[in-house]
Amino acid sequence: MVDIADIEKSALGPVYPPSPRVVAEAHVKSMEEYRKMYDRSINDPVAFWGDIAKQFYWKGAPEGRVFDYNFSKSNGRIFIKFMEGIKTNVCYNVIDRNIENGLGDNVAFYWEGNEPGDDSKVTYSELKRRVCQFANVLKAKGVKKGDHVAIYMPMILELPIAVLACARIGAPHSVVFGGFSAESLVDRILDSKCCLLVTADGLYRGKKLIELKSIADQAFQILKDRNYSLKCCIVVRHLLEDLDKKGPQEPPKRPSNIGWNEELDCWWHEEVANVSDECEPEWLDAEDPLFLLYTSGSTGKPKGVVHTQAGYLLYAATTFKYSFDYHHGDVYFCTADVGWITGHSYVVYGPLANGAPSIVFEGLPVYPDAGRYWDIVDKYKVSKFYTAPTAIRSLMRFGPDYVKKYSRKTLKVLGSVGEPLNPEAWRFYYEVIGNGECSISDTFWQTETGGHVLTPLPGCTPMKPGSVCFPFFGIKPVVLNEDGNEVQGQSEGYLAISQAWPSTMRTVYGDHERYENTYFGKFDGYYCTGDGCFRDKDGYFWITGRIDDCINVSGHLTSTAQVESALIEHDLVAEAAVVSYPHEIKGQCLYAFLTLIKGAEFSDEVVVQLKQQVRQKIGSIAVPDYIQDAPGLPKTRSGKIMRRVLRKIARNDHQLGDISTMADSSIIETLFQLRPASL
Ligand code: PRX
Repeated sequence: MVDIADIEKSALGPVYPPSPRVVAEAHVKSMEEYRKMYDRSINDPVAFWGDIAKQFYWKGAPEGRVFDYNFSKSNGRIFIKFMEGIKTNVCYNVIDRNIENGLGDNVAFYWEGNEPGDDSKVTYSELKRRVCQFANVLKAKGVKKGDHVAIYMPMILELPIAVLACARIGAPHSVVFGGFSAESLVDRILDSKCCLLVTADGLYRGKKLIELKSIADQAFQILKDRNYSLKCCIVVRHLLEDLDKKGPQEPPKRPSNIGWNEELDCWWHEEVANVSDECEPEWLDAEDPLFLLYTSGSTGKPKGVVHTQAGYLLYAATTFKYSFDYHHGDVYFCTADVGWITGHSYVVYGPLANGAPSIVFEGLPVYPDAGRYWDIVDKYKVSKFYTAPTAIRSLMRFGPDYVKKYSRKTLKVLGSVGEPLNPEAWRFYYEVIGNGECSISDTFWQTETGGHVLTPLPGCTPMKPGSVCFPFFGIKPVVLNEDGNEVQGQSEGYLAISQAWPSTMRTVYGDHERYENTYFGKFDGYYCTGDGCFRDKDGYFWITGRIDDCINVSGHLTSTAQVESALIEHDLVAEAAVVSYPHEIKGQCLYAFLTLIKGAEFSDEVVVQLKQQVRQKIGSIAVPDYIQDAPGLPKTRSGKIMRRVLRKIARNDHQLGDISTMADSSIIETLFQLRPASL
C-alpha cells in the first residue's frame, strides 16, 4: 500500500506542465478541450462513441438501445450491452480495413527476438495472409464460432497471429501467459472448456531456456487423467527453426527433448502450408465474446474475464489514440507480454485498430544488458513507449549510463501501467529516460476494464509525479466511503465507477453470480475496482493499492488464497498465511508464514521444496520471496487469521495497533524472533 501521508505531500507539488515536444501535435490541446470532450462522453455516450464508431466497419444497425446497462443488483441482473444487434468482426477492423485505407505495405508488427539481431517484421498485407491461413487451419481442425482456443506461447509473431485468427472466425481466445505452470494451464483450459491449444517448442528469456512444449505435455497428462481431451495441439517450431537456420549454437538453442504425440500434435508451419491465405471473416454480434482472460481472484480461483466485440474494439482503439497521443508515423513499443491484458489491448488490438506499427519483444529489459530497451528504441525510432514500474525501478538500479549510451531522441510519450509509479521512479522515467522532454502517461486500469480508466493525456494534462491524474473519456469515477456513499472534494476511499463504459467486462466465464458479487456486490450501483484511492484538492487521482486479498507483484495480481492453498498441499504444512512485503524492484513481494504439522522440522530444504511447489502449481511469479516458520498464527476469537498483524511482523514493526480481538497473543514474540535471517 502507498502511504497516504506520502501521497498528500506529493499532491502539493511540483506539477509538470505538458511537455512542449508533444503539445504542438496533441489531439487534445488543453484541459478545457479535455473537459468538453469528457463531459460529452459522460452525458451523451451514444453520440460520443457513435462518432468514433464511424471509422470502423459494421453491418446492419443496433437493435434496441445502443448502450444499455444495469450496475445495481437491487434492479435485477447486472448487464452491459453496447451496440447489440449490429454485426462486425474485430480482425477485419484491425487488419483488412487498414489495407483498404492504403496501409497494406505499412509495418503492422516488428518482432525483436531475445537475442539482439534476431528480428523480423510483417506488413498489414502479410499479416492478413498469415492470419487467414491460420484461421483456415483452425477451421480445418474443427474449430467453430463460439469454441474456445487456448494460446500458450512466447512473444513471437505467431502469438498475435493466432489471437487474430481466433477473432476472425469468432472463436474466443484464452491466452495463458507463458510463465504459468502446467497446472495453471490445465485450470484455465478446463474452466473455459478450450478445444485446442496453440503453443511453441520453447523460448529463451535472457539465458534461461523455457521448454514450453514439455510443460504443455505435462498439462496434457493431467487433462488425460481428468478425462478431458483437446482436438489438437498446434506447435510453432520456434527454437528448432532457429537451429535449422543458423546451425547449433553455444549455448545450444533448442529444447532438450520435444515430446510428440502423433494423435494430438502438429506443426504450425506444416499446417499453414496446406491452406488458403484467404478467409472470409465471421460476422459476429457486437455482444459476442471476443476473448477470455484469466485474472487472480481473492478467493484463489482465477476468474475468466469476458470481453466482447464492439465495446472492446472502440475502447482499446480510443484509449490507444489519446493516452499515447498516437499519430500516423509513430513507432510504438509496449513491453508487456500478450499473456496479460496490457498485451491484448496495447500490443495487439489498440495499435492495430489505429494502423500503428507495434513491436513484439521476446526478451528481457536486462539482456544482454540493461540498455536493451533503449537499443530497441533507437533501432526502430520508437516515439511511444509503454512499460511497467517494476521494469523502470530495475533499470534505475543500473544507473543512468545504460540509458545515456543511446540517443532516445525519437521518444515523445512514456507510459506506465500495472502498479503505482512512485515519484522517484516517475522522475527517473521523466528526467533520465525522457531527458525531461517527454510526457509521462501513468495509466490506471485492469483486466476487467479492457482499457485505460485514469490517465493523463500527453500534451494536455499537467502531470503530478505518482498520480494517475484524471478519468479517460466515458469513465465516471467516484470515491466511496465504507458505507458506500460518494464523498466529494479531497477524499480517500474506495475507487468505484458509477456508469458503464464500452469495454466493461461482461461476466466471469461460467459464473455470472461471482461477477455480480465481486464487482457489484460491495456497493450497490457501482463497479468496484478493488483499489483504494485518494483524490486531491485539484481532482487528481492517486491509487493507494488493493483493498482485497490480492497482492500486486511486479504489476501482476496474485491471490494470497491461491498461494496459500498451493503451500498447504505440501505434506508437512498444516497452515499458511501469505502477506505482502515491500520490494525495491517488484514494488511488493510475497511473504509466507507457515505452520508445519506436529513433529515436522522447519529447514532450508523445506523452504526450497515449498518454493518449488508453488512454482509447479502456479508459476514462478507466485513464489514467495520469504518463507518463515510460524509455530502458530495470530487469529481472532472467531478463528480468522490476522493478516494485518502478520504484515507488521514481516516488517519488524512492533506497533501492532489494536490486538484486543486476538485469541492468543503469546505467539507474537516468537514470530518476531523467527523472521528470516536474510531480512
Ligand atoms: O491494483 C491496480 C493495479 O493493477 C490492478 C489490475 O491488475 P491487472 O488486472 O493484472 O491489470 C494490470 C494491467 C492493466 C489494479 O486493480 N494497477 C494497474 N495500473 C496501475 C495500478 N496501480 C497503480 N497505478 C497504476 N497505473
